[in-house]
Amino acid sequence: MSKKILIINGPNLNLLGDREPEVYGNETLDDIKNLCEKKGKDLSLDIDFTQSNDEGEIVESIQNAKKKFSGIIINAGALTHTSISILDALLSTKLPIIEVHLSNIFTREAFRKESFVSKAAKGIICGFGSKSYDLALEAISTLLKEKN
Ligand code: DQA
Repeated sequence: MSKKILIINGPNLNLLGDREPEVYGNETLDDIKNLCEKKGKDLSLDIDFTQSNDEGEIVESIQNAKKKFSGIIINAGALTHTSISILDALLSTKLPIIEVHLSNIFTREAFRKESFVSKAAKGIICGFGSKSYDLALEAISTLLKEKN
């Protein structure tokens, strides 16, 4: 049976394609979802691709992930830089976690350089646009193979 991976997208990522295309590119979140599902097939991973603008909803989906998923890929959007509750939820799962961002958060405003998500993540992939998700799936697939 394929392992299941939860991909979480936080606030404002539903606006991709329209939102600051010079920073985030022209692809929509649906385009990225399709890319992830295709990559998931190649890697024999089952993908559950989600987006929410609500911090509490994201915390709940992380809490519930433990029972159903083998790993989490998360782009928490701006909550990356503010949310200790998302960090605590991620730590509670003990699942392998990869943090992704479309943009390179280290070359932007100073407030984007701090990530609470990083403290729970095995690694971070940022700056490659939609390709960051593709690389994150490769990374999680490698981690899961190493675990077996
Ligand atoms: C982002 C970077 C965050 O700083 C920002 O708030 C986002 C998107 C990215 O994917 O580059 O919403 O997570």
